[in-house]
Amino acid sequence: MKNVGIIGWRGMVGSVLLDRMKTEGDFKKITPHFYSTSQAGQKGPSIDGVDYTLLDANSIESLKEMDIIISCQGGDYTKQVHPQLRQSNWNGYWIDAASSLRMNEDAVIILDPVNRNVIDQAIEKGIKDFVGGNCTVSLMLMGVGSLFNENLVEWMTSMTYQAASGGGARHMKELLTQMQVIGNNAAHMMDGDILKLDAAMSKLLSSHEINTDCFGAPLALNLIPWIDSALENGQTREEWKAFSETNKILGRQENPIPIDGTCVRVGALRSHSQALTIKLNKSVEIKTIEEMIQSSSEWVEVVENTPEATREKLCPRYVSGSLKTVVGRIRKMNLGDEYLNIFTSGDQLLWGAAEPLRRMLNILL
Ligand code: HSE
Repeated sequence: MKNVGIIGWRGMVGSVLLDRMKTEGDFKKITPHFYSTSQAGQKGPSIDGVDYTLLDANSIESLKEMDIIISCQGGDYTKQVHPQLRQSNWNGYWIDAASSLRMNEDAVIILDPVNRNVIDQAIEKGIKDFVGGNCTVSLMLMGVGSLFNENLVEWMTSMTYQAASGGGARHMKELLTQMQVIGNNAAHMMDGDILKLDAAMSKLLSSHEINTDCFGAPLALNLIPWIDSALENGQTREEWKAFSETNKILGRQENPIPIDGTCVRVGALRSHSQALTIKLNKSVEIKTIEEMIQSSSEWVEVVENTPEATREKLCPRYVSGSLKTVVGRIRKMNLGDEYLNIFTSGDQLLWGAAEPLRRMLNILL
């Protein structure tokens, strides 16, 4: 059985990954080795009745013994360890959740329900680095990737509604703490005048009572239309990824499809949503579009464009903790017959992060 090293298994993405691997029986197919950057020699996880002792994630000699390494440890670790490993002539497969290697020429962004052909060609060519995509991009493609693969998209805009989890565990807790403070303050004013309550909440949001260490601004009762660092062209890095990563996933770097939009952090906990405007390159019936999307994978659920179905299903509440990607509000826009309006939502930690990694492991096995 292949020796598989797992690093960063205790973090949020790593924990979701381990859960999924246990559920799917992946550990029965491999000899796992668990690494730590700070606790080598200590007790690791227990899986299928076996207690694992942690190995040193900074030891190139130890990592070199692995056939496959899966890292959820983060970009700094990848930047530090991956080049050393490769320089030591390690020829194993590196599967990574972090973004640092994504745009390397000899790395492939993995989302096999959408780009299995790109992955297979890369393995054939001897590519060894496989990297999970940006969560928003992966979730968008899990929803409407079939329209790209059918060559129907001339351009697309994506306006996102991204959950706190995209920032990490501390960000989720900060949002919940903000909500708690707001709830406590509002509780004793609920019987009073709404405008007084509103004014009190506005004042509270600007006060020291609301901790904004992670987000830099209140997220509860608010939103933040900025995610990640600034680029010179006025985009955020998150917005840039929509174009660059989508085209790389699709293997279209030579002939990219224009994609742009605004990425917005909202007070959802772990599922990202996005409103898409898609300019088709020809007129296609809505029914055909729906069928194409529905039949693209077993994880897609097309939601009827009705108020009841939309409220029930087209939202973070419905998809959080599941592998479902919901796609709804599918309609032609007033802009013209080739303009589609679509809304989609998916779990940021599953298809957005952990699931493509464990599926890549299975492809390699
Ligand atoms: N960058 C994403 C976000 C998460 O902040 O929501 C990781 O892809």
